[in-house]
Amino acid sequence: MKKVIIYGAGYGKVFFYEAERYGIIDIEAFTVDQAYMKNEKECGLPVVPFEEVKRIYPPSKYDMLVVCGYSVMRNRKIMYEKAKSKGYTLINYISPAAVVESGIKMGDNNIIMSNSVIGYGGLMGNGNIVCQNVYLGHEFYIGSHTIISAGCTLGGGSRISDLVFIGMGVTARSFLSYGEESLIGIGSNVLKDVEPFSTCYGNPAKAVGFHKETGVIIKER
Ligand SMILES: CC(C)(COP(=O)(O)OP(=O)(O)OC[C@H]1O[C@@H](n2cnc3c(N)ncnc32)[C@H](O)[C@@H]1OP(=O)(O)O)[C@@H](O)C(=O)NCCC(=O)NCCS
Repeated sequence: MKKVIIYGAGYGKVFFYEAERYGIIDIEAFTVDQAYMKNEKECGLPVVPFEEVKRIYPPSKYDMLVVCGYSVMRNRKIMYEKAKSKGYTLINYISPAAVVESGIKMGDNNIIMSNSVIGYGGLMGNGNIVCQNVYLGHEFYIGSHTIISAGCTLGGGSRISDLVFIGMGVTARSFLSYGEESLIGIGSNVLKDVEPFSTCYGNPAKAVGFHKETGVIIKER
């Protein structure tokens, strides 16, 4: 297997420590857009400008994994497309400490972190992150560039559109739809379908606002 370049050194660092414990991929370096260059090393590895990554680590010798967090969700898709356009193979990362039932189909650049349990018969597009300790029931559908945060419990048959963000510890009934670019707040209990572009939270979760122009933006304090 080729060595891997991680695109993104913010959430990329969180991913690095998650992956390093199990050693199933060999991470060579980080790359970030020149405008976001802060340090020349992260986690003991070189950080190179994305504008130069192809020259330093060519796609013929290296694969890539785009690891972008949730502060501006639309950036996840933008970075994925930029990495693709440079010709890299974008790998899937499934933690050896996750339980992923057979028959799950997925595109590329998906990350499934430790201790998550993913039910049988699911379908997943590209660029999704399933964080630690998630239960995702059988026969789910996930589009692309979504994040399911740590500790969520989502019933079987969930249908999650593109660029959805599901906060930590969300619990949700089976067979619900999550419209594109929706945001479900931390600790919510979802009992009904979630409207596209809505921010929902509470028990039961209700829409409290919409953000079609900006997409999901989350400011942690
Ligand atoms: C939904 C969310 C984005 C709202 O953030 P925000 O716009 O900064 O909102 P605030 O914290 O200012 O809260 C505004 C009000 O909504 C309430 N509220 C916010 N999130 C809520 C939630 N998930 N459930 C219930 N009430 C919530 C607050 O209590 C507050 O109520 P008040 O005005 O009566 O005091 C945020 O609460 C959230 O869920 N972030 C995701 C965190 C997460 O899961 N991170 C992943 C880490 S891996």
